[in-house]
Amino acid sequence: DKKITIAIDGFSSTGKSTVARRLAKELEYIYVDTGAMYRAVTLYMMRKLFVSDGNFDKEAIVRHLPFISLHFEFDEELGYGHMFLNNENVEKEIRYMEVSQHVSKVSAVPEVRKMLVKQQQEMGKNRGVVMDGRDIGTVVFPDAELKLFMTASTEKRAQRRYDELKGRGDEVNFEQVLQNVKDRDYMDSTRDDSPLVMADDAIEFDNSEMGLDEQFDKIVKITKDKI
Ligand code: C5P
Repeated sequence: DKKITIAIDGFSSTGKSTVARRLAKELEYIYVDTGAMYRAVTLYMMRKLFVSDGNFDKEAIVRHLPFISLHFEFDEELGYGHMFLNNENVEKEIRYMEVSQHVSKVSAVPEVRKMLVKQQQEMGKNRGVVMDGRDIGTVVFPDAELKLFMTASTEKRAQRRYDELKGRGDEVNFEQVLQNVKDRDYMDSTRDDSPLVMADDAIEFDNSEMGLDEQFDKIVKITKDKI
């Protein structure tokens, strides 16, 4: 089999990472969660800039960027890479609601995108990679052999996200999660730099009415056709 690049993009909480992780495991590919990278940069900025109203100073963000180093460390037990920010494991913290509320602002800054896109291209340069995010098929790997664009209804996505956060013991209410999903969809698809759009050659995959196994089986079939 030849090694290919698989780009999985889509709106928030469409289950991209669950599918991407499983697919990477099945194919023995590298998995890269690019959302985790944007979240880690956001966490760093939140700590440094003490932002409470979500209004970041863009120039301050750009000034701090050179002090950020990111890497993933594979966790055998969980079967996927944990996000490290300057050698600190932040995998848990980057999933908190506060980070979700700020991440779309920070990731709209072109310098932030430039830095992370470069690192992502480096991680996937030998192919054999499943990468999920918002701009993988359009910007990071426009030549990816397989591009999936995941969608699901807003309510379904908010429900899944809510269940996930609750399951981890976070104090959240459904309305708040739904609002955050809507806000991020809006900001991510209307920003100037690399907005979330479906690549012309992507396959749209609506999983509103699909369980995980059904979804995975379908995606494996699509993938095997490409390899
Ligand atoms: O995938 P996840 O929901 O964790 O991504 C968090 C946020 O990071 C997104 O809402 C988006 O603002 C940003 N992001 C991005 N480009 C990517 C991946 C994530 O702008 N490739």
